[in-house]
Amino acid sequence: MAPALDSPQIAFCNANCSYYWMQAVYVCVCNGVTDRDIQRAVDEGCDSLDALAARTGCGSTCGCCREYAEEAILQAKSKSLGLPIAA
Ligand code: FES
Repeated sequence: MAPALDSPQIAFCNANCSYYWMQAVYVCVCNGVTDRDIQRAVDEGCDSLDALAARTGCGSTCGCCREYAEEAILQAKSKSLGLPIAA
């Protein structure tokens, strides 16, 4: 059974057009923000941690995710621009 749309699991279609599920990664546990939420926020104009926090709450509770959230924002920006992601 397919998970609900708000679930952190995402369906992808591979080269053989069969679907597989990929687990999203929680970046902010306090506020339930995943890497996919951050990608969506960046795609819709969030360009800083403050903007992300205002939109999703990410990093605004205990704050221990802020470093990872900033990294996720940079990766999301790279994806949005079609740039390779640095390791
Ligand atoms: S884990 Fe993000 S604010 Fe606590």
